[in-house]
Amino acid sequence: MRITMIGSGYVGLVSGACFSDFGHDVICVDKDAAKIDALDAGNMPIYEPGLDQLVAANVAAGRLSFTTDLAQAVAGADAIFIAVGTPSRRGDGHADLTYVFDATREIGAAITGPAVVVTKSTVPVGTGDRVEAILREVCPDKQVAVVSNPEFLREGAAIGDFKRPDRIVVGTEDERARQVMRDIYRPLYLNESPLLFTGRRTAELTKYAANAFLATKITFINEIADLCEAVGADVQDVARGIGLDKRIGGKFLHAGPGYGGSCFPKDTLALLKTAEDAESPVRIVEAVVKVNDSRKRAMGRKVIHALGGDARGKTVALFGLTFKPNTDDMRDAPSLAIVQALEDAGARVRAFDPEGMEIARDLMPGVTFCTDAYDAATDADVAVIVTEWNVFRALDLDRLADVMAAPVLVDLRNVYSPAEIARTPFTYHSIGR
Ligand code: UDX
Repeated sequence: MRITMIGSGYVGLVSGACFSDFGHDVICVDKDAAKIDALDAGNMPIYEPGLDQLVAANVAAGRLSFTTDLAQAVAGADAIFIAVGTPSRRGDGHADLTYVFDATREIGAAITGPAVVVTKSTVPVGTGDRVEAILREVCPDKQVAVVSNPEFLREGAAIGDFKRPDRIVVGTEDERARQVMRDIYRPLYLNESPLLFTGRRTAELTKYAANAFLATKITFINEIADLCEAVGADVQDVARGIGLDKRIGGKFLHAGPGYGGSCFPKDTLALLKTAEDAESPVRIVEAVVKVNDSRKRAMGRKVIHALGGDARGKTVALFGLTFKPNTDDMRDAPSLAIVQALEDAGARVRAFDPEGMEIARDLMPGVTFCTDAYDAATDADVAVIVTEWNVFRALDLDRLADVMAAPVLVDLRNVYSPAEIARTPFTYHSIGR
């Protein structure tokens, strides 16, 4: 198979590299010449474990290449994947589809023979119809089918998720396109990953429904955590107690500072817009969005409470800034709201994050960035675990207490247990217990 990937960002690059690893010939396209030059030189534009080796191996095998020349890459391709960004449009929360439609026009102008055009970007229901309409207009004489094939990759685990998916959703009624998609994913369904064929609109909605459900699950356990604190119960045990019920499932029941990242916040908003336009409200998701937003600010108040109610002149050490570990992604990270709340309350913030500080520097101009957790904690009145990076799971707590002005630990990810902290000098605050 010859596959062209339009957009060499997170999804495009991971998908392109994995498809080439299956043995397909893949060309990844991007408008950004600096990004393509960097990729040609073996430098990844994003931090994703294992990606650099995967790219290097497949480039060396001659199956993976990069270009800015979309027309040349599209000519002769069996399948053209659209994996460009769909940011939230400023003002109204709708997904901004400018990049998707621009790419579609360019693809239409460059297509040479029969081809399948696949949207991998997360796009609102009905986008496939609009992509098809554009192609009918730009290249009416070409045999083109439009497929929706959403991705379900988690940052930091994207390659594993791609190669061992729980399912692959393929939305198209076109039999020829279904066969092309079967051939592309052949190594996976031979591995018994279910390939689920649906209508195109159904596939588009499935992606939003999956993310909204996961966001709901997290928000549910977060509110139960607050209730646990209020009534003297332990949310870790509640999560385990309900998660062992197979109908509920134990994953995504880890209480914390609220979800962030590039997907959940954006996709829940886009789903609400779709629901509003269709006059079919999804009220649970409306509540989830509100609860999660206010939770991030509430985490700042939790830290101030641990400082005795007054943050003025106090120093706070933040451990972790990215929205989750194993990524440098700061989009909608809870740390942003927490830093804001602490600075508004008059505190000084020192921080350390293993991968996120370069990006965080521009977003948090008032913060002092440090070389490690102990450096960040020096003379601090409280230390806060914001992101559960592995380096924060085995801190030398005696050493930490020694460098701090006061041994107070706020653990927003429940990385430690109250029992182990009881053996240390620390006063400990965690989530839901
Ligand atoms: C998510 C989906 O998992 C993925 O399928 C989709 O394609 C893109 O969005 P990602 O944003 O990379 O992936 O991260 P994920 O690991 O799902 O975590 C999302 C957020 O939820 C993070 O802020 C994380 O800290 C939070 N989370 C997750 C919790 O607070 N508790 C949990 O139990 C799980």
